[in-house]
Amino acid sequence: LVVDASDATGRPIPETLFGIFFEEINHAGAGGLWAELVSNRGFEAGGPNTPSNIDPWTIIGNESSIIVETDRTSFFERNKVALRLEVLCDSEGDNTCPDEGVGVYNPGFWGMNIEQGKTYKVIFYVRSTESLNLTVSLKGSNGVGNLASSAITGTADDFSNWTKVETLLVAKATDHNSRLQLTTTTKGVIWLDQVSAMPVDTYKGHGFRTELFEMLSALKPKFIRFPGGCFVEGEWLRNAFRWKATVGPWEERPGHFGDVWMYWTDDGLGYFEFLQLAEDLGALPIWVFNNGVSHNDEVDTSAVLPLVQEALDGIEFARGDPTSKWGSLRAAMGHPEPFDLRYVAVGNEDCGKPKYRGNYLKFYHAIRAAYPDIQIISNCDGSSRALDHPADMYDYHVMSSHMSFITTDMYDYHVYTTANDMFSRASTFDRTSRNGPKAFVSEYAVTGKDAGTGSLLAALAEAGFLIGLEKNSDVIEMVSYAPLFVNANDRRWNPDAIVFNSYQAYGTPSYWVQLFFSESSGATLLSSSLQSNSSSNSVLASAITFQSSVDNKNYIRIKVVNFGTSAVNLKISIDGLEPNSLQLSGSTKTVLTSGNVMDENSFSQPKKVVPIKSGLQNVGKDLNVTVPARSFTSFDLLKE
Ligand code: AHR
Repeated sequence: LVVDASDATGRPIPETLFGIFFEEINHAGAGGLWAELVSNRGFEAGGPNTPSNIDPWTIIGNESSIIVETDRTSFFERNKVALRLEVLCDSEGDNTCPDEGVGVYNPGFWGMNIEQGKTYKVIFYVRSTESLNLTVSLKGSNGVGNLASSAITGTADDFSNWTKVETLLVAKATDHNSRLQLTTTTKGVIWLDQVSAMPVDTYKGHGFRTELFEMLSALKPKFIRFPGGCFVEGEWLRNAFRWKATVGPWEERPGHFGDVWMYWTDDGLGYFEFLQLAEDLGALPIWVFNNGVSHNDEVDTSAVLPLVQEALDGIEFARGDPTSKWGSLRAAMGHPEPFDLRYVAVGNEDCGKPKYRGNYLKFYHAIRAAYPDIQIISNCDGSSRALDHPADMYDYHVMSSHMSFITTDMYDYHVYTTANDMFSRASTFDRTSRNGPKAFVSEYAVTGKDAGTGSLLAALAEAGFLIGLEKNSDVIEMVSYAPLFVNANDRRWNPDAIVFNSYQAYGTPSYWVQLFFSESSGATLLSSSLQSNSSSNSVLASAITFQSSVDNKNYIRIKVVNFGTSAVNLKISIDGLEPNSLQLSGSTKTVLTSGNVMDENSFSQPKKVVPIKSGLQNVGKDLNVTVPARSFTSFDLLKE
């Protein structure tokens, strides 16, 4: 491998090249990154009609002690369903309540993680016909063990109208499968609504589960595309993500059923929170909005203007003046300064749908007129042909034929593909015209049997693909893996970059591959070429020079993926540097490999396939190295 490290041949890599794509899929947000512990906190998941399904809320008590139903008496106009508890028993009298009382409990998203010494804020709204004597408690697995509790009491007058209750619970013990319980032993009728429990120590108090946030932050993402994916489209338009229903006080959000990934979200993680997440990560937000196209229905272009206005309002919400109509709502939510929204994507994977282009143009021209600086991303693939409509970027998708729920069309093909195919796609953009708009490779992953739930094989193929993208970053502006998160209790899509449950998390090998590129955005790509030999088809390499964000020192990073089944001896020659300008001490190599190419990480072995860093011997102008079979290696050479 010959690397030219002279300044003359280097090319700047876009500042935005590597980022992340967050989709509300696999309970990535609800029951995941968003730290709310209560599932279906407003009792709305069963829909607006009553009686409504209150799942996963569960009744404590039997028919002779309590009647539980839903009605539409909530204080909140946009989510009218409330829970009515008619308590028939009493701590005194003939029908004595059981000692633990009667009421309801919520198991959260497959169990709440409650940790000893930590504080949890519980908020709920309550109304009562009699004096109130309610116990709010965090219980251990199966309701056994009291981790924390608080008594909420008052006269009938105190609670004759809807009243907000807020209480802090400090856990006495740890249980990863806990539940929130509200019980009473007093006869009467109680209504409950908008019940929330959150750990106090979320990231910056912004509601993000800290260790999951930190796994994102470690990638140093330069952008975050959100909130989907198919989640944005919906199977039907009526179930698509609508930003206005996800902002304002959390209690007033109606929530919605995501009918592609088939679960309810209370929309605690709403448009504002996504923008906040981007800001907290130091990443530019890329808002994907629905442009009147879902998987099964479409708005005719002649009737799409209300949706265009909705998108314009959304941009105003993000970056409008705090005195503007929508900017003032953002300010009221605690963020008077505008968010740094510079990119919007019109739809998701909809290029071939009948109304897409017509609708796209309506959005494009309206946004362009109101916000000339905003970059507008089209769904249509321009990697191999010129676009027939204006766009600042195009979204390059490669679809897999087994995903029959996606309507494939002349532009889209399988982005989610086999390992061999993904590796061979390293050269896809070599052939792309250098004159067109730039590409946003917004979703890529090896899927199917090569990937399992996150194999080394998949990750190595993706490493090869990413090396190709890095080398073609003159025509590629942004790259992100998909999907980002999976709650192991609700695997809607395999594989994913980060796997978690209520209290554990690990990165798949694909996550770790992305870490090798975390210094690439804004770095300088060095010209490098592999001399041809028998293994050259399975070896790919790139070289960058960058200033480390960790120690501020300057490095050359050479990344080599060996996709083949034999180790490869490589002589790396670095030209264009002054003699002795590389330092032995401080230079390292980091290797991602494993005994079996199908190895995966798991909760029991979270570090089975992770990069291993070691010091480098013999750093000089020429480096003789062996890259193991089926491996990805980065050589970080410290410059004087
Ligand atoms: O990443 C999972 C899905 O793949 C996304 O929702 C969609 O955009 C693509 O088909």
